[in-house]
Amino acid sequence: MAEDLQIIRGSKTVQYESLVPQIKGLLEGETDLVANLANVAASLKEQFGWFWVGFYLVKDNELVLGPFQGPVACTRIRKGRGVCGSSWEQQKTLIVPDVEKFPGHIACSSLSKSEIVVPVIRNNEVLGVLDVDSDQYDQFDSTDQQYLEQIVSLIQF
Ligand code: SME
Repeated sequence: MAEDLQIIRGSKTVQYESLVPQIKGLLEGETDLVANLANVAASLKEQFGWFWVGFYLVKDNELVLGPFQGPVACTRIRKGRGVCGSSWEQQKTLIVPDVEKFPGHIACSSLSKSEIVVPVIRNNEVLGVLDVDSDQYDQFDSTDQQYLEQIVSLIQF
């Protein structure tokens, strides 16, 4: 397994194209979910420098905070609540250019300005979400959606 991450500069696509094989390397041969989620969150945070990157996992019909990188965050989110709970309910990726305009947004930090949430779906069931927050408006687009969905699909749940 690769033990350190090569951080590169360039367009978003160039950065993801460098990161995805490295994430594959980190996940290879490791079956522990917490270890893998922790390394995926760390890789994304290191490469892109986003404000907050982490996972929430469905436990007893709530999203519960899992491995993340960034400031402390809300620990539990109910289905349909905030961007994370909405992504879970709708079973789809949500891109929010301005979190203040998202009805019911849960502000773990007032510094968070835009957000993308990718649900982890296995056998038609949402097992958790990947949540990425930026401290700048309008930071996420279909390129992030495509690559983050790919990265989430690489993780064995
Ligand atoms: N803003 C999220 C809550 C999680 S934190 O941003 C880490 C939401 O509305 O679901």
